[in-house]
Amino acid sequence: MKHLLYLKNLNQETITEILDTAEHFLNHDNQPIGSEKILQDKTLANVFFEPSTRTRSSFQIAAKKLGADVINIDEEHSSRAKGETLVDTLKSLEAMGVNYFVIRNKHSGIFDEILENIDHNSRLINAGESNISHPTQGLLDLLTIRRHKKDFKNIKTVILGDLSHSRVARSLTEGLSIMGTGEIVVVSPIDYKPDMKLFNGAEYTDNIESALSDADVVVTLRVQKERMDDETQFLDQSKYFKDYGLTSDRLKLCKKDVIVMHPGPMNRGVEIENTVADGEHSVITEQVTNGIATRMAILSIIERGKD
Ligand code: CP
Repeated sequence: MKHLLYLKNLNQETITEILDTAEHFLNHDNQPIGSEKILQDKTLANVFFEPSTRTRSSFQIAAKKLGADVINIDEEHSSRAKGETLVDTLKSLEAMGVNYFVIRNKHSGIFDEILENIDHNSRLINAGESNISHPTQGLLDLLTIRRHKKDFKNIKTVILGDLSHSRVARSLTEGLSIMGTGEIVVVSPIDYKPDMKLFNGAEYTDNIESALSDADVVVTLRVQKERMDDETQFLDQSKYFKDYGLTSDRLKLCKKDVIVMHPGPMNRGVEIENTVADGEHSVITEQVTNGIATRMAILSIIERGKD
Protein backbone atom coordinates (compact mmCIF):
# COMPACT_ATOMS: atom_id res chain seq x y z
CA MET A 1 0.00 0.00 0.00
CA LYS A 2 1.71 3.18 -1.21
CA HIS A 3 -1.20 5.62 -0.83
CA LEU A 4 -4.68 5.20 0.68
CA LEU A 5 -7.41 6.76 -1.43
CA TYR A 6 -10.34 4.31 -1.64
CA LEU A 7 -11.23 1.15 0.27
CA LYS A 8 -12.56 -0.46 -2.91
CA ASN A 9 -8.93 -0.72 -4.09
CA LEU A 10 -7.99 -2.95 -1.12
CA ASN A 11 -8.51 -6.68 -0.67
CA GLN A 12 -9.53 -8.63 2.41
CA GLU A 13 -5.93 -9.53 3.22
CA THR A 14 -4.76 -5.90 3.25
CA ILE A 15 -7.72 -4.72 5.34
CA THR A 16 -7.12 -7.56 7.80
CA GLU A 17 -3.45 -6.55 8.04
CA ILE A 18 -4.48 -2.95 8.81
CA LEU A 19 -6.97 -4.05 11.49
CA ASP A 20 -4.48 -6.49 13.04
CA THR A 21 -1.78 -3.80 13.11
CA ALA A 22 -4.22 -1.34 14.70
CA GLU A 23 -4.95 -3.90 17.44
CA HIS A 24 -1.22 -3.90 18.27
CA PHE A 25 -1.41 -0.17 18.88
CA LEU A 26 -4.11 -0.57 21.56
CA ASN A 27 -3.20 -1.50 25.13
CA HIS A 28 -5.25 -3.62 27.57
CA ASP A 29 -7.39 -0.57 28.38
CA ASN A 30 -8.06 -0.12 24.65
CA GLN A 31 -6.02 3.08 24.54
CA PRO A 32 -3.51 3.83 21.75
CA ILE A 33 0.08 3.31 22.83
CA GLY A 34 3.39 4.78 21.67
CA SER A 35 5.60 2.57 19.59
CA GLU A 36 8.90 2.42 17.77
CA LYS A 37 9.40 5.75 16.05
CA ILE A 38 8.88 4.44 12.54
CA LEU A 39 8.21 7.98 11.23
CA GLN A 40 11.24 9.61 12.89
CA ASP A 41 12.57 12.38 10.59
CA LYS A 42 9.32 12.38 8.57
CA THR A 43 6.86 15.26 8.32
CA LEU A 44 3.14 14.85 7.83
CA ALA A 45 0.93 17.68 6.59
CA ASN A 46 -2.75 17.65 7.43
CA VAL A 47 -4.19 19.61 4.48
CA PHE A 48 -7.84 20.14 5.36
CA PHE A 49 -10.11 22.24 3.15
CA GLU A 50 -13.20 21.25 5.16
CA PRO A 51 -13.72 21.38 8.93
CA SER A 52 -12.65 18.42 11.06
CA THR A 53 -12.23 17.55 14.70
CA ARG A 54 -11.70 13.78 14.79
CA THR A 55 -9.83 12.99 11.57
CA ARG A 56 -7.34 15.83 11.69
CA SER A 57 -6.60 15.51 15.42
CA SER A 58 -6.25 11.75 15.31
CA PHE A 59 -3.86 11.89 12.35
CA GLN A 60 -1.83 14.43 14.32
CA ILE A 61 -1.75 12.24 17.43
CA ALA A 62 -1.08 9.06 15.42
CA ALA A 63 1.79 10.60 13.45
CA LYS A 64 3.37 12.07 16.61
CA LYS A 65 3.17 8.73 18.41
CA LEU A 66 5.13 7.30 15.46
CA GLY A 67 7.76 10.04 15.76
CA ALA A 68 6.76 12.37 12.88
CA ASP A 69 6.58 16.15 12.85
CA VAL A 70 3.10 17.39 11.95
CA ILE A 71 1.85 20.60 10.37
CA ASN A 72 -1.75 21.65 9.80
CA ILE A 73 -2.88 23.62 6.74
CA ASP A 74 -6.38 24.95 6.21
CA GLU A 75 -7.95 27.02 3.45
CA GLU A 76 -8.61 30.21 5.32
CA HIS A 77 -5.09 30.64 6.73
CA SER A 78 -3.05 29.35 3.79
CA SER A 79 -2.15 30.87 0.42
CA ARG A 80 -5.03 28.87 -1.08
CA ALA A 81 -7.08 31.87 0.06
CA LYS A 82 -4.96 34.00 -2.32
CA GLY A 83 -5.70 31.69 -5.25
CA GLU A 84 -2.79 29.26 -5.11
CA THR A 85 -3.58 25.90 -6.72
CA LEU A 86 -3.67 22.81 -4.56
CA VAL A 87 -0.77 21.27 -6.49
CA ASP A 88 1.38 24.39 -5.97
CA THR A 89 0.53 24.31 -2.25
CA LEU A 90 1.59 20.66 -2.02
CA LYS A 91 4.79 21.23 -4.01
CA SER A 92 5.73 24.09 -1.68
CA LEU A 93 5.18 21.82 1.31
CA GLU A 94 7.29 19.11 -0.37
CA ALA A 95 10.06 21.67 -0.78
CA MET A 96 9.96 22.09 3.01
CA GLY A 97 10.41 18.35 3.51
CA VAL A 98 6.84 17.11 3.90
CA ASN A 99 6.62 13.38 3.08
CA TYR A 100 3.01 12.54 3.98
CA PHE A 101 -0.06 14.42 2.80
CA VAL A 102 -3.38 13.78 4.54
CA ILE A 103 -5.95 15.63 2.44
CA ARG A 104 -9.61 16.49 2.95
CA ASN A 105 -11.45 18.30 0.17
CA LYS A 106 -15.08 19.23 -0.43
CA HIS A 107 -14.73 18.60 -4.19
CA SER A 108 -14.23 15.18 -5.74
CA GLY A 109 -11.69 14.06 -8.33
CA ILE A 110 -8.55 15.82 -7.09
CA PHE A 111 -6.37 12.84 -6.30
CA ASP A 112 -5.41 11.84 -9.87
CA GLU A 113 -3.99 15.29 -10.53
CA ILE A 114 -2.17 15.29 -7.19
CA LEU A 115 -0.63 11.87 -7.87
CA GLU A 116 0.56 13.03 -11.28
CA ASN A 117 2.33 16.02 -9.76
CA ILE A 118 3.78 15.08 -6.39
CA ASP A 119 7.20 13.52 -5.86
CA HIS A 120 7.25 9.73 -6.18
CA ASN A 121 8.53 9.52 -2.59
CA SER A 122 5.56 11.44 -1.19
CA ARG A 123 2.59 9.55 0.24
CA LEU A 124 -1.06 10.52 -0.02
CA ILE A 125 -3.99 9.66 2.26
CA ASN A 126 -7.59 10.60 1.58
CA ALA A 127 -9.08 12.12 4.74
CA GLY A 128 -12.51 12.76 3.19
CA GLU A 129 -13.47 13.54 -0.41
CA SER A 130 -16.85 15.16 -1.02
CA ASN A 131 -19.53 12.46 -0.69
CA ILE A 132 -17.24 9.91 -2.39
CA SER A 133 -14.78 8.44 0.06
CA HIS A 134 -13.54 8.48 3.66
CA PRO A 135 -11.38 5.35 3.79
CA THR A 136 -9.75 5.86 7.19
CA GLN A 137 -13.20 6.30 8.77
CA GLY A 138 -14.30 3.09 7.05
CA LEU A 139 -11.30 1.25 8.48
CA LEU A 140 -11.79 2.51 12.04
CA ASP A 141 -15.45 1.53 11.76
CA LEU A 142 -14.44 -1.98 10.63
CA LEU A 143 -12.00 -2.22 13.55
CA THR A 144 -14.72 -1.18 16.01
CA ILE A 145 -17.16 -3.73 14.58
CA ARG A 146 -14.57 -6.53 14.61
CA ARG A 147 -13.62 -5.82 18.22
CA HIS A 148 -17.24 -6.32 19.28
CA LYS A 149 -18.54 -8.91 16.83
CA LYS A 150 -15.37 -10.94 16.15
CA ASP A 151 -16.22 -11.74 12.53
CA PHE A 152 -18.13 -10.10 9.72
CA LYS A 153 -19.72 -13.15 8.13
CA ASN A 154 -22.60 -13.65 10.53
CA ILE A 155 -23.66 -10.10 11.26
CA LYS A 156 -26.39 -7.81 10.01
CA THR A 157 -25.12 -4.24 9.69
CA VAL A 158 -27.52 -1.37 9.16
CA ILE A 159 -26.39 2.05 7.90
CA LEU A 160 -29.09 4.60 8.63
CA GLY A 161 -29.58 8.18 7.52
CA ASP A 162 -28.52 10.68 4.88
CA LEU A 163 -27.01 8.11 2.52
CA SER A 164 -26.89 10.21 -0.62
CA HIS A 165 -24.51 12.79 0.89
CA SER A 166 -22.42 10.37 2.93
CA ARG A 167 -18.83 9.43 2.11
CA VAL A 168 -18.76 7.48 5.38
CA ALA A 169 -21.60 5.21 4.22
CA ARG A 170 -19.90 4.57 0.89
CA SER A 171 -16.50 3.71 2.33
CA LEU A 172 -17.98 1.56 5.09
CA THR A 173 -20.13 -0.36 2.60
CA GLU A 174 -17.05 -0.96 0.44
CA GLY A 175 -15.15 -2.24 3.46
CA LEU A 176 -17.98 -4.41 4.78
CA SER A 177 -18.45 -5.97 1.33
CA ILE A 178 -14.75 -6.76 0.98
CA MET A 179 -14.78 -8.35 4.45
CA GLY A 180 -17.69 -10.62 3.45
CA THR A 181 -20.32 -9.18 5.81
CA GLY A 182 -23.41 -11.37 6.01
CA GLU A 183 -26.03 -8.66 5.50
CA ILE A 184 -25.61 -4.96 4.78
CA VAL A 185 -28.82 -2.92 4.85
CA VAL A 186 -28.83 0.79 4.02
CA VAL A 187 -31.91 2.76 5.07
CA SER A 188 -32.96 6.36 4.52
CA PRO A 189 -35.92 8.53 3.65
CA ILE A 190 -36.55 8.13 -0.08
CA ASP A 191 -35.25 11.74 -0.54
CA TYR A 192 -31.81 10.52 0.58
CA LYS A 193 -31.76 7.30 -1.40
CA PRO A 194 -28.34 6.99 -3.05
CA ASP A 195 -27.41 5.59 -6.44
CA MET A 196 -27.31 1.94 -5.39
CA LYS A 197 -24.68 1.16 -8.03
CA LEU A 198 -22.31 2.89 -5.58
CA PHE A 199 -23.39 0.61 -2.72
CA ASN A 200 -22.38 -2.79 -4.05
CA GLY A 201 -23.34 -5.62 -1.74
CA ALA A 202 -25.94 -3.61 0.21
CA GLU A 203 -29.72 -3.74 0.00
CA TYR A 204 -31.77 -0.54 0.25
CA THR A 205 -35.01 0.09 2.11
CA ASP A 206 -36.87 3.16 3.34
CA ASN A 207 -38.54 1.06 6.05
CA ILE A 208 -36.58 1.74 9.23
CA GLU A 209 -38.43 -0.83 11.34
CA SER A 210 -37.72 -3.76 9.01
CA ALA A 211 -34.14 -2.60 8.57
CA LEU A 212 -33.44 -2.53 12.31
CA SER A 213 -35.03 -5.92 12.97
CA ASP A 214 -32.38 -8.24 14.49
CA ALA A 215 -29.51 -5.90 13.60
CA ASP A 216 -26.11 -6.57 15.18
CA VAL A 217 -24.65 -3.18 14.26
CA VAL A 218 -26.38 0.14 13.56
CA VAL A 219 -24.40 3.00 12.07
CA THR A 220 -26.23 6.32 12.18
CA LEU A 221 -25.27 9.13 9.81
CA ARG A 222 -25.36 12.89 10.14
CA VAL A 223 -27.76 14.83 7.97
CA GLN A 224 -25.25 16.82 5.89
CA LYS A 225 -26.84 20.15 5.15
CA GLU A 226 -23.57 21.53 3.78
CA ARG A 227 -23.64 19.06 0.88
CA MET A 228 -27.19 19.87 -0.20
CA ASP A 229 -27.61 21.93 -3.36
CA ASP A 230 -30.67 23.79 -2.14
CA GLU A 231 -32.84 24.22 0.95
CA THR A 232 -35.58 21.93 -0.38
CA GLN A 233 -33.28 18.94 0.15
CA PHE A 234 -33.12 19.68 3.87
CA LEU A 235 -35.97 17.81 5.49
CA ASP A 236 -37.81 19.17 8.50
CA GLN A 237 -35.66 18.12 11.48
CA SER A 238 -38.41 17.14 13.91
CA LYS A 239 -40.16 15.09 11.19
CA TYR A 240 -36.83 13.49 10.30
CA PHE A 241 -36.28 12.51 13.94
CA LYS A 242 -39.82 11.15 14.22
CA ASP A 243 -39.53 9.07 11.04
CA TYR A 244 -35.83 8.12 10.95
CA GLY A 245 -34.21 9.05 14.27
CA LEU A 246 -32.54 6.21 16.18
CA THR A 247 -34.55 6.19 19.41
CA SER A 248 -34.41 3.83 22.38
CA ASP A 249 -37.79 2.41 21.28
CA ARG A 250 -36.48 1.61 17.80
CA LEU A 251 -33.30 0.15 19.26
CA LYS A 252 -35.44 -2.58 20.88
CA LEU A 253 -36.00 -4.01 17.38
CA CYS A 254 -32.30 -4.87 17.15
CA LYS A 255 -30.46 -7.76 18.77
CA LYS A 256 -29.93 -7.42 22.53
CA ASP A 257 -26.17 -6.96 22.08
CA VAL A 258 -26.45 -4.47 19.21
CA ILE A 259 -23.74 -1.82 18.98
CA VAL A 260 -24.60 1.74 17.97
CA MET A 261 -22.08 3.73 15.94
CA HIS A 262 -21.88 7.24 14.53
CA PRO A 263 -18.88 8.77 12.71
CA GLY A 264 -19.49 12.16 14.32
CA PRO A 265 -20.17 14.98 14.54
CA MET A 266 -23.67 14.11 15.76
CA ASN A 267 -26.86 16.11 15.38
CA ARG A 268 -28.41 15.01 18.67
CA GLY A 269 -32.18 14.93 18.48
CA VAL A 270 -32.10 14.76 14.67
CA GLU A 271 -30.57 11.42 13.62
CA ILE A 272 -30.01 10.02 17.13
CA GLU A 273 -31.66 10.36 20.52
CA ASN A 274 -29.46 11.50 23.42
CA THR A 275 -30.20 8.38 25.45
CA VAL A 276 -29.02 6.20 22.54
CA ALA A 277 -25.92 8.28 21.77
CA ASP A 278 -24.83 8.03 25.42
CA GLY A 279 -26.42 4.67 26.21
CA GLU A 280 -25.02 1.23 27.00
CA HIS A 281 -25.04 0.11 23.34
CA SER A 282 -23.12 3.14 22.09
CA VAL A 283 -19.52 2.62 20.96
CA ILE A 284 -19.22 6.11 19.49
CA THR A 285 -16.35 7.27 21.70
CA GLU A 286 -14.58 3.95 21.11
CA GLN A 287 -14.72 4.70 17.38
CA VAL A 288 -12.85 7.95 18.02
CA THR A 289 -10.17 6.20 20.09
CA ASN A 290 -9.85 3.41 17.51
CA GLY A 291 -9.28 6.14 14.92
CA ILE A 292 -5.85 6.85 16.38
CA ALA A 293 -4.76 3.19 16.34
CA THR A 294 -6.15 2.74 12.83
CA ARG A 295 -4.30 5.77 11.51
CA MET A 296 -1.08 4.62 13.23
CA ALA A 297 -1.55 1.29 11.46
CA ILE A 298 -2.09 2.91 8.05
CA LEU A 299 0.94 5.19 8.41
CA SER A 300 3.23 2.43 9.63
CA ILE A 301 2.16 0.00 6.88
CA ILE A 302 2.72 2.66 4.20
CA GLU A 303 6.12 3.55 5.70
CA ARG A 304 7.23 -0.09 5.96
CA GLY A 305 6.25 -0.56 2.33
CA LYS A 306 8.93 1.97 1.33
CA ASP A 307 11.78 -0.41 2.34
N1 CP B 1 -15.90 11.41 11.29
C1 CP B 1 -15.24 12.51 10.87
O1 CP B 1 -14.71 12.56 9.76
O2 CP B 1 -15.22 13.51 11.80
P1 CP B 1 -14.49 14.92 11.57
O3 CP B 1 -15.25 15.63 10.48
O4 CP B 1 -14.57 15.61 12.90
O5 CP B 1 -13.08 14.64 11.16
